[in-house]
Amino acid sequence: MRGKEIIFLSGISKLETNEERWNPFPWYREMRENNPIYFDEEQQVWNLFRYEDVKRALSDYKVFTSERERSTIPIQLDSSINLTSVDPPEHRKRRGLLASAFTPRSLDTWKPRIQSVVDSLIQGLLAEDLSKPVDIYERFAVRLPVTIIADLLGVPNTDWEKIKEWSDILFLPHHQEGLEEVTKQKAKAMKDFGEYLLPLVQQKRRQPQDDILSDLTQAEYEGAKLTDEEVVGSGIGLLGAGNETTTTWLTQCFYYFASKGVYGELRKQPELIPQAAEEVLRYHFIASLDRAVKEDTDVLGVPMKRGEAVIVWISSANRDERQFVNGEAFDIHRQNSKEHLSFGNGQHFCLGAPLARLEAQYALTSFIKQFSNIRIAEGYRPWDHLVSHGFTLTSLPIVIEP
Ligand code: HEM
Repeated sequence: MRGKEIIFLSGISKLETNEERWNPFPWYREMRENNPIYFDEEQQVWNLFRYEDVKRALSDYKVFTSERERSTIPIQLDSSINLTSVDPPEHRKRRGLLASAFTPRSLDTWKPRIQSVVDSLIQGLLAEDLSKPVDIYERFAVRLPVTIIADLLGVPNTDWEKIKEWSDILFLPHHQEGLEEVTKQKAKAMKDFGEYLLPLVQQKRRQPQDDILSDLTQAEYEGAKLTDEEVVGSGIGLLGAGNETTTTWLTQCFYYFASKGVYGELRKQPELIPQAAEEVLRYHFIASLDRAVKEDTDVLGVPMKRGEAVIVWISSANRDERQFVNGEAFDIHRQNSKEHLSFGNGQHFCLGAPLARLEAQYALTSFIKQFSNIRIAEGYRPWDHLVSHGFTLTSLPIVIEP
């Protein structure tokens, strides 16, 4: 793991309790209205809260570069083909190595596989005692993405528990207190994950199969084949990138479909499901990214200096009334939900978004067709179940009506 200097988000937002972390939206609103381009003196970073500014910083790489010394991102892959820390034109070459696996045509071949994993998870739920609440996070939302991404890469999906554990550790949010311990844990997870993948990669190089790791062993970059270590690094990146994010998205969908009373409507009109799921990504998916100022600039109306870090508060942008009418309201009929920035924007737009969308669509449609209603278990308070110092749920007990 390379030691980029860490920017601590918690030091900026001052969201101290779990309740505030579950509901940071009042703070976002206040910043959007009163302090939309805010310089944090303590850590020396810019913070952007409005939609237009966030979108610009994500996509205008000539001004806001991904080639940065400091970052909020909790994982730094030491791979020479890492995508998220380079700008075009270099970025384009690297992204090309992976992009073919995620085109609509390649994903078409994955549809039956996704459906069959969804079906087996639903069979699993049907076999449970449904008179009691079921933890839909653990029984469904965790298992789908990790199984699919393991399959795509060509890693035995029976090992999903190990893979999930490593990728969860690698993506744990950084927090000042306990930093040393978390850094140690991450280094160990990276080592164990790498040692697990290496023999698989070596074997795939000798006998390529129809999967992404095999493709990467054969791919050429700058006139040479990728090394085993580079393939392992990309594998860890993909296994990580596609897991926790998609799990969180699915969990949030269950939570909001139940708590906002739209489940029945979606069951009557399943064609609304993909749109409703996009609205969940807009309404409540806590994310932020960072960039660095490439050259001194005042494109956002304030003087910013070369090298300064810039944090974009995506989940604030997603509620900006300038972009989304009545943006603080959850509305599955909103016409422009899909303009949310949860998948990023511009050249780094999430490569896995088409896959995540397919998984969400198949999973939620099959689930809603199968079960007549869901309710959040009595007494459940989401903020009691957040990952340590983070924003994401680690359990969601629901009552499922057959
Ligand atoms: C709900 C699910 C997901 C969310 C919210 C999400 C979010 C994001 C975001 C915000 C970025 C942009 C990073 C930046 O601009 O610096 C990104 C990039 C990326 N994502 Fe996702 N992601 C999801 C699922 C996936 C999946 C399933 C995969 C693959 C299996 C994946 C692979 C990637 C890759 C490879 C990149 C780097 C693209 C680049 O830098 O060109 N993501 N993702």
